[in-house]
Amino acid sequence: MRGLLFLVSLGLVAAEDGLDGWLRYAPVPCDKGCHDALPSSVVALNSTETSPVYVAGLELQKGLQGIFGKWANVGHENCGDSSSSVVVGTVDEYTKACGSSTDDEVPELEEDGFWLSTRGDMVRILGQNERGALYGAFEYLSMLAQGNFSRVAYATNPHAPVRWVNQWDNLDGSIERGYGGASIFFENGVVVDDLTRAAQYARLLASVRVNGVVVNNVNANASILSPRNIEGLGRIADVFRPYGVQLGVSLNFASPMTLGGLSTFDPLNASVIAWWTNITDQIYQRIPDMAGYLVKADSEGQPGPFTYNRTLAQGANLFAKALQPHGGIVMFRAFVYNQLNESDWKADRASAAVQFFKDLDGQFDENVVVQIKYGPIDFQVREPTSPLFAHLQNTSTAIELEVTQEYLGQQCHLVYLPPLWKTVLDFDLRVDSKLSLVRDIISGKRFNRPLGGWAAVVNVGTNTTWLGSHLAMSNLYAYGRLAWDPTEDPQSMLQDWIRLTFGLDRSVLDTVTQMSMESWPAYENYSGNLGIQTLTDILYTHFGPNPASQDNNGWGQWTRADQKTIGMDRTVSNGTGFSGQYPPEIAAMYENIDTTPDDLLLWFHHVNYTHRLHSGKTVIQHFYDAHYRGAETAQTFVTMWESLRDRIDAERWTDVHFRLTYQAGHSIIWRDAITTFYHNLSSVPDEADRVGNHNHPWRIEAESMTLTGYKPYPITPFETASNATAIVTTSNSTIGTATTRLTQFPSGTYDLAINYYDLVGGRARWEIFLNNRLLGQWVGNNEDRLGHAPSVYIDGHSATRITFRGVHVRRGDVLTVVGIPDGIEPAPVDYVALLPEGVVD
Ligand code: GCU
Repeated sequence: MRGLLFLVSLGLVAAEDGLDGWLRYAPVPCDKGCHDALPSSVVALNSTETSPVYVAGLELQKGLQGIFGKWANVGHENCGDSSSSVVVGTVDEYTKACGSSTDDEVPELEEDGFWLSTRGDMVRILGQNERGALYGAFEYLSMLAQGNFSRVAYATNPHAPVRWVNQWDNLDGSIERGYGGASIFFENGVVVDDLTRAAQYARLLASVRVNGVVVNNVNANASILSPRNIEGLGRIADVFRPYGVQLGVSLNFASPMTLGGLSTFDPLNASVIAWWTNITDQIYQRIPDMAGYLVKADSEGQPGPFTYNRTLAQGANLFAKALQPHGGIVMFRAFVYNQLNESDWKADRASAAVQFFKDLDGQFDENVVVQIKYGPIDFQVREPTSPLFAHLQNTSTAIELEVTQEYLGQQCHLVYLPPLWKTVLDFDLRVDSKLSLVRDIISGKRFNRPLGGWAAVVNVGTNTTWLGSHLAMSNLYAYGRLAWDPTEDPQSMLQDWIRLTFGLDRSVLDTVTQMSMESWPAYENYSGNLGIQTLTDILYTHFGPNPASQDNNGWGQWTRADQKTIGMDRTVSNGTGFSGQYPPEIAAMYENIDTTPDDLLLWFHHVNYTHRLHSGKTVIQHFYDAHYRGAETAQTFVTMWESLRDRIDAERWTDVHFRLTYQAGHSIIWRDAITTFYHNLSSVPDEADRVGNHNHPWRIEAESMTLTGYKPYPITPFETASNATAIVTTSNSTIGTATTRLTQFPSGTYDLAINYYDLVGGRARWEIFLNNRLLGQWVGNNEDRLGHAPSVYIDGHSATRITFRGVHVRRGDVLTVVGIPDGIEPAPVDYVALLPEGVVD
């Protein structure tokens, strides 16, 4: 019985569902000496239960208990026992309670800043305000949880005042571009009753010093402002407040008409102004510390001031004036563009933001912040820095990043994003030929702006992993850290996250570091190179490959690829003129093909496939090689992760393993689709003879097998099936069988990979037999397991691979795939590959 109990408790310890993120407070080794040195009591210098300092006290207690099994009482009076306390509070409260001035030790702190001292007998965590004190408590706990007992005393202040996240949650509970389940805030048009997850989210965010959450989608539903929803928003703000997190709201510009019943939403109309003033006052009555509004206007069908020939600044100032008496701010999005015609060589969506906003500089009220996506298009795998950062010198700005991996694998691919973000944050725009780093522009430092900062689209959901994937949480963690200090090193932030998330094991640290740091380059390699953008399906789900979808439509994410050439000519001399939107030094660099870096070549120039890069390769050979290299790297993530099997709890290990295996398969689908597409278009052979000619010696095409109840089926887009063809069952109730005799493979041990399509809306089953012996079976249920909705079509989103390892095969064995269709899913199969160990087909 005792043994059983022991096992049960081990199991409990082992199971981790991700809910605590990086705040697990898992035990770390601590000998007696270390134990004695730990604080045995906590003094939190505020006894109000909803105050951040009170919360900091509880958090310290919980952390000491979890990490060291040490129980510490929390008090709120006096200064504590100076020999073994940790004291947390504001500088002012500390001075009052402890009767001592901190002038000698603590430098002047900025808003939200803190000072942490573990020197001397007492640990002191002092914030400029309560929020800062809570941040300091999390910092101290982060040290302890990483086994860092060093004696430190330092102050730290935020890079910028605005450090927000945006959630694209709809009131019906769905989340636009969310891959981690339903909304934690809304369902059925109203705010949910149980806000436990909202409070837990605030806790995670506070620990990385995020101070605001806009809770509803930028494509906003006006009924967010109904009396019932204002009350609901009030409840969300109530659970955020103890963590120092403020609530923000996305607005629909036409609300005075659609919700308020006015005949206009003209921003200069008196009744419209009165309507917004009134509704804003109502919100502040319920939420006195509301952070402000986020507005997407005149963009992608959203209403805005253009309807009334008013400027975007007039639109933004409408809200700014309503918010101003309450101290709120307007985050006004620069993501404004029109549909364009590709037959116009000079048309360019990338130019839109500067065109719309440049002349408005200086016309925005002081409490407006223009929120600018990092690149000029839309969260692509690589983009140049948005030139708008250089133009708004009398306007406060914020950068908009995307933690949710809309164009970067939707949390089904590991992509650690900070190295991508850093390409923009550290970019020197050379305004007036002076150092003009984007990070210094958004902080307000470069142009002396009082406001500015950061927004990231995050889109956590009800999934216990928050984002849908355990490993994706490094991006949320690092976002907060960067928003506090953008000079932080992506790898060292990552390593803090790894230690906090998976413990102190050295091999876990090294392996997850390597995988993560290789992940963005790998994804870029197999999804879209040389600045051509993520070559995904821009008309549908933004997930799998579909390069043709980029062109011949009005969205302006064009590649202009034809049989000989590819890329957007954005030069002033011959193209769209976009490069001229940068300050002269940068404009000159991008104008000239010789000084344009290879990784942005196709962003700025339209060239032959045979154009030679600085690297010496041709563009097309780079495409081929990079795609093979990227997919090959993705295969290694699986083996690297497998080496950690005994070092990570089974629940998280299995979940991550599933995703990395999926990614390895999908990276091959990406690789084959893109290389086949451009090989077909350009007819330029691959020097390594991998692409074209259907050169896959280890594959057996399903359509070449003996079929019963299955029929060949041409796939659209053609490049998302090997040989452009798959097989599907002849009806949605016919069981299909595909059989082949393995005469061309020598006897031996193989990994058996089956490429099939897993559609949303059906749960087909497949079985695979070798000489009538069942080797394996699976269900097409990725829609349940992956967290994103792949596709209702047989295409590059639904294309999937499953692999059975170590299968013994003798020459002449008979392989049979049986497909049992379900609903719209006709058990599609593309091919089977028999792979000798170490071979990537
Ligand atoms: C992207 C995204 C949309 C989103 C838009 C925005 O285009 O695909 O879902 O609404 O960006 O940022 O407003």
